[in-house]
Amino acid sequence: MQLSPHKRENVLPLPVVLISTVSKTGTRNAAPWGNITPILRPLDEVVLASWLRRDTLDNIRETGEFVVNVPPAAMVEEVMVCARNYPPEVDEFEEAGLTPRPSVVVAPPGIEGSVAWMECRLVEEITREKYALVIGKVVYLEVNDRYATGEGNMDFGAARPLCMVCGNDGIRFTYPVDAGRFALYSEMFVRKP
Ligand SMILES: Cc1cc2nc3c(=O)[nH]c(=O)nc-3n(C[C@H](O)[C@H](O)[C@H](O)COP(=O)(O)O)c2cc1C
Repeated sequence: MQLSPHKRENVLPLPVVLISTVSKTGTRNAAPWGNITPILRPLDEVVLASWLRRDTLDNIRETGEFVVNVPPAAMVEEVMVCARNYPPEVDEFEEAGLTPRPSVVVAPPGIEGSVAWMECRLVEEITREKYALVIGKVVYLEVNDRYATGEGNMDFGAARPLCMVCGNDGIRFTYPVDAGRFALYSEMFVRKP
């Protein structure tokens, strides 16, 4: 079945994160984001795409800082409260009943109960007519001990990090399951004979 080109998210599962920021007057904000990805393993930057009218984008522009919280699937109701278009003066931590978690390096708090926290500083904004690409450097990264193995790998079976698959009428929330195949990074390198 051929799909319209703008239905890319119908065929491409995305992660869901909660981005926490503070405004220059100190109002806390949290918003769900699907358009976010690390830029190339093993570097330390991330890029997110934002519509221009977002309190999150305004706050990042004003303060240069944000936290990428990875919510467990159990946090999906709070995620959807944060998706509402509250005015900028509303504290979205309070609206969604989120418990702030002091960050180590940046001013915006993280969200307690997340699977992991990436504290980020703005590196560059690439502004287009309708959207902005925000490149951030991860300056501090922590995975919740509840969901980490001793080696620092995520126990994603326990954590159930939230993901999404879009449909014609809405979003289906998902989380990853093991597909039964593990690959060492070294498998990508062909040995010279
Ligand atoms: C699962 C999900 C993913 C979303 N992903 C994005 C995104 O990648 N970029 C974006 O600009 N808005 C995205 N949104 C919409 C924003 O989260 C929503 O407009 C929110 O109210 C913005 O809050 P803010 O104005 O406080 O920043 C997403 C919403 C949901 C529910």
